[in-house]
Amino acid sequence: MERTALFPGSFDPFTLGHKAVVDMGLTMFDRIVVGVGVNAAKQGLLTPERRGELIEAVFGGESRIEVALYGGLTGDYCRSRGIRHILRGLRNSTDFEYEHDMEMANDQIYPEITTVALFTPADYIPVSSRLVREIITMGGDPAKFLPSGIDIKEYL
Ligand code: PNS
Repeated sequence: MERTALFPGSFDPFTLGHKAVVDMGLTMFDRIVVGVGVNAAKQGLLTPERRGELIEAVFGGESRIEVALYGGLTGDYCRSRGIRHILRGLRNSTDFEYEHDMEMANDQIYPEITTVALFTPADYIPVSSRLVREIITMGGDPAKFLPSGIDIKEYL
């Protein structure tokens, strides 16, 4: 049976840290669905469609990666697709608290789904979408924190 994981996130925008987690995930899963969670109540810097396009550009040609936009609960989306693993990255103890809370809640509601958390490589610990957004909105160049070849201006 093919092992598929959902890698969910806001990805506003997708960073080098996210890419590192997907690359590690590909050593364990046959397929990874990178799911852009659409929260209609929260306006981001990039539109969800643009976020998806950026991720497609990062993995263009990699047949084991699918990019999808979804609304609602992450567990419901997994169930609707028969996906039984959620992949997440952990940078530090703040991430851990948040991820653990989410994992425990998901485990109560969707006991068939297992969350797999991977440690972000040390080089990428300071990288976050929030910092990248701040750099962009203040006129800086975030290229160092984005996957190579991505010109963020094309997605704004
Ligand atoms: O990496 P992010 O941006 O913190 O991702 C958050 C995301 C989208 C994975 C999370 O907010 C989410 O799963 N949202 C959908 C609603 C949901 O399922 N919440 C968890 C309920 S226990």
